[in-house]
Amino acid sequence: MTFDPRELRSALGSFATGVTVVSVRQSDGTPRGFTANSFTSVSLEPPLLLICIAKSAHSLEVFQEASSFAVNILSDTQREVSGLFASQAANKFDLVDWQSGKTQAPLISGSLAHFECLPHQFVDAGDHVILIGKIEHFARFDGTPLGYFRGNYFDLGQEQPLLDAVLEQGRVKLGCIVSKGSHILLAQQPEGRLTVPYAPKEDISLMGLQRNLAQNGLRVDIDFLYAVFNDEAEKSHGIFYHGSVQGEAAEGYAYFPLSNLPLDRVQDKAERSALARYAEEHRHGSFGVYHGNETHGMVQTVSGKKKSSQ
Ligand SMILES: Cc1cc2nc3c(=O)[nH]c(=O)nc-3n(C[C@H](O)[C@H](O)[C@H](O)COP(=O)(O)O)c2cc1C
Repeated sequence: MTFDPRELRSALGSFATGVTVVSVRQSDGTPRGFTANSFTSVSLEPPLLLICIAKSAHSLEVFQEASSFAVNILSDTQREVSGLFASQAANKFDLVDWQSGKTQAPLISGSLAHFECLPHQFVDAGDHVILIGKIEHFARFDGTPLGYFRGNYFDLGQEQPLLDAVLEQGRVKLGCIVSKGSHILLAQQPEGRLTVPYAPKEDISLMGLQRNLAQNGLRVDIDFLYAVFNDEAEKSHGIFYHGSVQGEAAEGYAYFPLSNLPLDRVQDKAERSALARYAEEHRHGSFGVYHGNETHGMVQTVSGKKKSSQ
């Protein structure tokens, strides 16, 4: 059976995970590491965990030769750390705070937990090697985890209370920032103005938003809340979701390249700043990643951030 690799990757990405950085030292002591969400706890007695390392990872050989390694579970304050370690930058450890563990494996400060392991077993598995580690030392710290789902980061459980609070307060505009590859869908208004697509006033809900676009032949999959803000000028609250869109742009809509968004045609300040942030984050996401999709939605901020329209 042959599968479309993109489809398979998307389907596998439906399993939401945390994010870790797996770290190790080269024989000359240089710290190395990479972002991994393939972490799994395996056994309590003996204490075992595993991660899967792509055979294409530059650090694979280092792991195969090392006498110890560490798994650092990232917190929701460490998105940049995840992005950094998902790159193939040579100096990743120059850019984070870290210290040596008891086994000399590098431990990244600010992580939710560290596990220092001895290599227990390497299992050859297709284009990956499964590294099973025996846990020698561990520590855990307060904080909330960084999550990963279908190619996007998310902060667990922070969205709904914020959304509920906003919905209680009255007038709400609900829109979405939806991309198709490296393009974004915007709604065209009179006089060349542009806005993000909004849910119709009579049905301010995610379903309403999706139905509205579906009527125009556009299929929108919403992933996460992207921004929640207070629009003082309009005395309303705005909620933007993030997602992806399929279909040709119907009349009244157009796709614009993220590398060259016509922000001057977006009048609403909050929308403009959310779109600028999205374009910027999209650019940062352009590193080689496990899911093989370098340009799409790597470092989007997907938790709700209350944002003034000023
Ligand atoms: C959220 C996320 C999860 C990842 N999970 C894995 C993983 O489990 N195994 C893996 O080999 N690469 C994974 N990657 C990709 C590596 O982090 C990336 O290929 C990195 O460049 C490898 O570093 P290296 O080549 O310096 O070893 C992941 C990337 C991201 C963004």
